[in-house]
Amino acid sequence: MKAIVLAGGAGSRLYPLTQVSSKQLQAVFDKPMIYYPLTVLLASGVREFCLIATPHDLPRYQSLLGDGSQWGVAIQYREQPRPEGIAQAFLIAADFVGSDDVILMLGDNIFSGGDDFPRAVSSFTAGATIFAYHVKDPERYGVVEFDRTGKAISIEEKPQHPKSSYAVPGVYVYDNSVLDIAKAVKPSIRGELEITDINLEYLRLGKLQVRRLSRGFAWLDAGTSTALHEASSYIEAIERRQGVKIGCPEEAALVRGFLSIAQFETLIERMPACEYSDYLRGVADEWHRLQEDKQ
Ligand code: DAU
Repeated sequence: MKAIVLAGGAGSRLYPLTQVSSKQLQAVFDKPMIYYPLTVLLASGVREFCLIATPHDLPRYQSLLGDGSQWGVAIQYREQPRPEGIAQAFLIAADFVGSDDVILMLGDNIFSGGDDFPRAVSSFTAGATIFAYHVKDPERYGVVEFDRTGKAISIEEKPQHPKSSYAVPGVYVYDNSVLDIAKAVKPSIRGELEITDINLEYLRLGKLQVRRLSRGFAWLDAGTSTALHEASSYIEAIERRQGVKIGCPEEAALVRGFLSIAQFETLIERMPACEYSDYLRGVADEWHRLQEDKQ
């Protein structure tokens, strides 16, 4: 399974912050926003990534994330000159996807809790798997309607009168036919290639699975300055209470076995003395303790 991370867009709702850096590079508490979706993907076992951003912002992602080898993964980059729709990601990154299955993840979606995504990825065989999350303001999202048996029967993009309270988060798992489906999608009234149109095609073919995310799961929005601030506060509260970090790619890479403990410790040595490297050192100590317990 490969992954495309979409981190383009104008970010106009965060102006003037986006004059300094792109939306998905803004801080969410103690890390750049893009770390959160990347960590979810690493924790789901993905090792091959393609990050899409504007030509202006792409060099900043490249200098932050490099080729991914520091985390034991591979990251490629592609430009999206104009924000012409989320589904355009499959046209831009078609050569990267090749003949594989692919997850598309929006770079501004922040998740915390649960193992819904790793489970969905490891059990994926064919078709499409998307998710549904109960929200108070479904009209801001793609909205999925279920019948009495829990089967998805419709999806609408930002409907004025939502048929349910279940929004579709920005994580989409597709088989390789998504490349052909994306080629056939036409721009919507707002001039974008809509991800909802891809999901509707899978629904029409009877190949769409919609998994409801559990209640304990948090899906945070960071699209406005208020939402960004709230997301930071939420992450800070959980991290302080639990003493574990959310959205820490180095830790996910160690847990997944993408990095050996020696590589992990070399990575820490290259970091400045700070709270983040202290945390990772604690993770390494815990790793050694667990090994001793096993012996
Ligand atoms: O967050 C989940 C929602 O994302 C879904 O429920 C909706 O069905 C889906 O259309 C999308 O809605 P948004 O209104 O949040 O989409 P937005 O245009 O804000 O784009 C989401 C992210 O994708 C944003 O960080 C920018 C990036 N993006 C967007 C477009 C349209 C790109 O990189 N390129 C693009 O062309």
